[in-house]
Amino acid sequence: MTFWDAGDSHDLADGLRSSFAETFGRDAEVVGRAPGRVNLIGEHTDYNAGLVLPLALPHATYAAAARRQDGRLRLRSRQAEEGWEGTLDEAASAPGWAGYAAGVLWALARDTGSGTGLEVPGMDVLVDSTVPIGAGLSSSAAIECAVGVAACALLGLDLDDPLRERLVAAAMAAEGEVVGAPTGGMDQTIAMHGLAGAAVLIDFDAHTHEPVDLDLDALGLTVLVTDTQVSHALNDGGYASRRADCEEAASLLGLASLREATQAQAESLEDERLRRRARHVVTEIARVTETVAALRDSDRPALGRLLLASHVSMRDDFEISCAELDAVVETAVEAGAMGSRMTGGGFGGSAVSLVPTERVEAVVRAVDARFVAEGFRAPRHLLGVPSAGAGLA
Ligand code: GLA
Repeated sequence: MTFWDAGDSHDLADGLRSSFAETFGRDAEVVGRAPGRVNLIGEHTDYNAGLVLPLALPHATYAAAARRQDGRLRLRSRQAEEGWEGTLDEAASAPGWAGYAAGVLWALARDTGSGTGLEVPGMDVLVDSTVPIGAGLSSSAAIECAVGVAACALLGLDLDDPLRERLVAAAMAAEGEVVGAPTGGMDQTIAMHGLAGAAVLIDFDAHTHEPVDLDLDALGLTVLVTDTQVSHALNDGGYASRRADCEEAASLLGLASLREATQAQAESLEDERLRRRARHVVTEIARVTETVAALRDSDRPALGRLLLASHVSMRDDFEISCAELDAVVETAVEAGAMGSRMTGGGFGGSAVSLVPTERVEAVVRAVDARFVAEGFRAPRHLLGVPSAGAGLA
């Protein structure tokens, strides 16, 4: 049974330093690292001031960097042919993957009002990643945060909590203002605040994040992540239209956000589409709280039920699933998973399943066979081992 490998972070950082020397003809000064994530539950709730429960993956993006005296930025990736070169002033219009990397530098340099911009120097940057790209596992936040961490290290800054928060904000600005994906902040927050052995409960109203122990061995469960290989994009309209529906629903109810809505209020909306969108958000936020309780009680059946209810809600009320995701969920449960659901933005990407560890092989085989039978592209699987957040590699 082969899983998508996270690699060894020391080996990956060493390999990247060698490639950096070959690419740029000099040594890297620092290597930043930031993980991808899988969200256990709480989908499309972050931009509704709600709750989410993601964990950081061992799969990560690495950014090797060294200062340049001429103020220019030269960005390269081991996953992309095209690099990008320009000044900090041009960074906000960098295209493609470079938009995430250059965008975070642009955002760090800008005056935020609450603090002056950082003196981001010119630099050479080489990126490498073991986060599957376009799989709904937050490969974009991983680039933003890895490059941001590297830039801060070049400036000699200590990666303390305020700086982590500043990196979250800069990474969100890169995503929203440079790349044009109006995302909600979960991915950047978990990339900067992930913890080994824990999921993180993030509250986007109280602006807090707290670890929730995820002792998978004690639970006898494995977090199995299945990438359907249906590529998902967050800047192609579907995500933004869901966000707009939620904002309209909240405003019709006279609320600042759907976090404040009760289920009865959601059900009172006249417009059927808005009613379903709001119902998903309100029930999903409640499911996050129930999942935290179920984890604390080691209640495996409850965890399974909550994951499945979340999937049904996203499939029927929020309408962001697809045939491949539904097939993973259905097959995983038939083959012995406690529960399974699509994870991330939707419209493709990955599913997350909680599987009794002795059933993992059976679940993987069943899902693979179903994809063959349906004529779908072969899926990829990886293990969601809760891992540390961003730092220097
Ligand atoms: C994407 C976004 C997040 C979040 C999820 C859905 O991953 O980047 O902010 O909205 O979709 O939960």
